[in-house]
Amino acid sequence: MSRAALIAPSLLAADFTRIGDEIRKAEAGGADWLHLDVMDGHFVPNISFGIPVVEAARKSTKLFLDTHLMIEDPVHIAPAFAKAGCDLITFHVEALVPRAQRTKREKGWALDRELTAEAVAKGRETIDVIRAAGKKVGISLNPDTPAVALRELGGLVDLILVMTVWPGFGGQKMIEDVVPKVREIRDRFPAPWVEVDGGVAPGTIAKCAGAGANVFVAGTAVFREPDAAAAVNALRSAAK
Ligand code: DX5
Ligand code: ZN
Repeated sequence: MSRAALIAPSLLAADFTRIGDEIRKAEAGGADWLHLDVMDGHFVPNISFGIPVVEAARKSTKLFLDTHLMIEDPVHIAPAFAKAGCDLITFHVEALVPRAQRTKREKGWALDRELTAEAVAKGRETIDVIRAAGKKVGISLNPDTPAVALRELGGLVDLILVMTVWPGFGGQKMIEDVVPKVREIRDRFPAPWVEVDGGVAPGTIAKCAGAGANVFVAGTAVFREPDAAAAVNALRSAAK
């Protein structure tokens, strides 16, 4: 089934001295969504921005705010992000599992098996909290976490975000070994949006689209280009 490609510029790559202008530039350039990367310095080795910036983004645009929480304990803070104006809130499956049960890779967390009953319960609770706040919900997995980690939860969400880089920083090269997992997830879960995030550019987007992704996060490939409209168009046509 073919689905329209949605282009979601990531604010992380914008010029933070003029955030409102940058957001309006993405909107005027034809972006479908705005992707907001929230980092806590614990789940990932970087801190980006939080609720006040989301509120400012909400005041600057009517774009759908696609919020990617790279944080520990998302269940506690998710309602505050909903209140700040997010339309969709994505949390990480790795964050549902106690640190001692995760695998620590050099560049971040991975799971090497399916979820325990406790982790599934925590995931359901997080999904329920986000839905109760009236928002759409997404679940994300890091490059080394297998699709089986989503077995119980993947069918309950609106979006599955497949990280194609280790999260924490923009401007990285796509890890193309992750692309087969995009296909596996699309085959297992036909209903949700499947979003890819990290290193998405005109030269890498087609293979993700071919594997079944239909939402494409692009930081560098939009905000670091001189013409945002041309950059969004280039991504959209390469995804066809
Ligand atoms: C990484 C973030 C990404 C990042 C993508 O932690 O989740 O959204 O901003 O940036 P690019 O498109 O530059 O790889
Ligand atoms: Zn992201």
